[in-house]
Amino acid sequence: MSLGLRAKTALLMLRRGEHSEMLTELANRIYSDDASLILRRDLTRPLVPRPTAKIPIRIRPAEPGDFAQLSAERPRRLPALRANIPTCYVATTGDGSICYMQWLIPADEQARLRPLFKGELAAYESDTVLLEFAYTFERFRGRGIMGCAMAEIAEQGRSLGARWAITYVKQDNVASLKGCASAGFRPFMQRTERWRGLRLRQSFRLLAEGTPYPFELKSASQSS
Ligand SMILES: CC(C)(COP(=O)(O)OP(=O)(O)OC[C@H]1O[C@@H](n2cnc3c(N)ncnc32)[C@H](O)[C@@H]1OP(=O)(O)O)[C@@H](O)C(=O)NCCC(=O)NCCS
Repeated sequence: MSLGLRAKTALLMLRRGEHSEMLTELANRIYSDDASLILRRDLTRPLVPRPTAKIPIRIRPAEPGDFAQLSAERPRRLPALRANIPTCYVATTGDGSICYMQWLIPADEQARLRPLFKGELAAYESDTVLLEFAYTFERFRGRGIMGCAMAEIAEQGRSLGARWAITYVKQDNVASLKGCASAGFRPFMQRTERWRGLRLRQSFRLLAEGTPYPFELKSASQSS
């Protein structure tokens, strides 16, 4: 990524008031221990029940005319939009407003994503597509849009010949984990992340089939 693009992205993020997130991210790179779940969905199996949003939405690939609106709402995605990494999808409401964005990336494009991906991306094969950078526009949150849109975007992977869809989510991002769960994704692997003085060390481990989401464990212990 060029220095100019980096600076423009940082400026847009500051303008949008993301100062504290930027500082937290920097502090985390100095010293933190974190973990992400890699979630997976078998696209050959029908999704039952099918998630529905509280408002009607439809998905379509993003068009160049959407880029200004997308980067104004989510400045940190400007580099991915500029790099034209296939394919950024958007969900729109009945009046055409964009309410959600997410990339679906086939295996043969993973090298282009890698420089923009936070941390290490485990290599994936041509039977798999990756979903990345899920984002619901702030004014549309809490209406079940993520689960519904993500389910449909993942299913676009079938026409690319994929059986599996995978996605990375921080283990404490409950809203995102729940959205992925309703889109049919289940815990598949775990990535542990250890930052010390701007150096990242990561490790991956396969999870046993049927491993619950952390929020499922919590709700089971509350109901017993
Ligand atoms: C994560 C995100 C995409 C969810 O979008 P959304 O369309 O508002 O999500 P939904 O309305 O489908 O809600 C998903 C679930 O999370 C729950 N939820 C929403 N906000 C929550 C919160 N702050 N804490 C816990 N649960 C929450 C909802 O109740 C819903 O649960 P349910 O399926 O049991 O009803 C959105 O919050 C977002 O864009 N966040 C910033 C970017 C981000 O974190 N992206 C994900 C990167 S992996």
